[in-house]
Amino acid sequence: MNEKIVVNSWNEWDPLKHVIVGKADGCCIPAPEPAVDAKVPEDSDMKGMHGPRLKDTVDKANDLLNNFASLLEKRGIKVDRPVPINHNQKISTPDWAAESMFGCMPARDIILTVGNEMLEATMSYRCRWFEYLNYRPLLQNYFNKDKNMKHETAPKPRLTDLDYRKDYLSEKIGEKKRLEWTEKKYFVTTEEEPLFDAADILRFGKDLVVQHGFTTNLKGIDWLKRHFSNHRVHTVNFPGDPYPIHIDATFTPIREGLIINNPQRRLPKSQRKLFENNDWQIIDSAQPAHNSPPPLCYSSVWLSMNILVLDPKTVCVEKSEIYQSDQLDKLGMEVIPVELRDAYAFGGGLHCCTADVYREGELKDYFPNQ
Ligand code: ALA
Repeated sequence: MNEKIVVNSWNEWDPLKHVIVGKADGCCIPAPEPAVDAKVPEDSDMKGMHGPRLKDTVDKANDLLNNFASLLEKRGIKVDRPVPINHNQKISTPDWAAESMFGCMPARDIILTVGNEMLEATMSYRCRWFEYLNYRPLLQNYFNKDKNMKHETAPKPRLTDLDYRKDYLSEKIGEKKRLEWTEKKYFVTTEEEPLFDAADILRFGKDLVVQHGFTTNLKGIDWLKRHFSNHRVHTVNFPGDPYPIHIDATFTPIREGLIINNPQRRLPKSQRKLFENNDWQIIDSAQPAHNSPPPLCYSSVWLSMNILVLDPKTVCVEKSEIYQSDQLDKLGMEVIPVELRDAYAFGGGLHCCTADVYREGELKDYFPNQ
């Protein structure tokens, strides 16, 4: 690795050399607010709860995250950790107030690395408005060390009530109605202002693929198009997901030419041309090993697909996800099992809890036939 270049990552699979791994410290279950309410599954054990998570669950999650960080370090990957702020404090802007923040486990949600740029996403939950502060010491350090590093932040959104559809505030919408709404792309966020979470974006060299859903709206995607003007930005959505948040338990590139797709949330035929025209294969992912997520967890069982590719032949998969491991093994990957399930509740799986700093390789055009 060239000492002077600290930040460089163009896709999800080139050899990983430097990464951020999140921490569970001080993580809170956020108090009710419009976007969070729409996301918490109606039958979730989290309904009606908020405040700091229990210390023993934080400690357990941190043990797992620390072990994951050590495993990566043993493989020669440099690992940085966020510097947690106190999440359990009231926050406000001139437009709103929130009881607490969320945490700093899912680094992928906030930080998007594209080449030499690290971009702080707008986010779309009020409790996550200040989450970038956990990563500022790291990004400042990269900025100081690498004179070509671009530290960017997307326009901070107002997040007034105008950003959220009132229909989603109802306590009981039901899965059937949710699936109808999400199929029609009637999501909780309106088009009041640009909104996006970094975890709705996948990087394929010159092409960025962005999920339109609860956390990213079309204005957010338009902002990304204008910002990344040397890239081609593609909008996708995945009918079948009643809570469409973050693309990385739905559509996961493994290496050049191969993507696994959640079989309950298939990419619509009309959105496949980019991949088909360029001989990329999209195959169904394996089934999750679990019937339900762990306690007090926002995510679905499909965190089975939330894997971290270390290089085109090596992938980290959660230890209990035996079917996903088996599929990737059969696809010719070396699978490294990593125990992380007891950290899922803090914001996701192996992809969610990391953010790329440096992958070898340069900007390439994987989809010359558009
Ligand atoms: N939204 C993703 C899932 O839970 C993370 O499936």
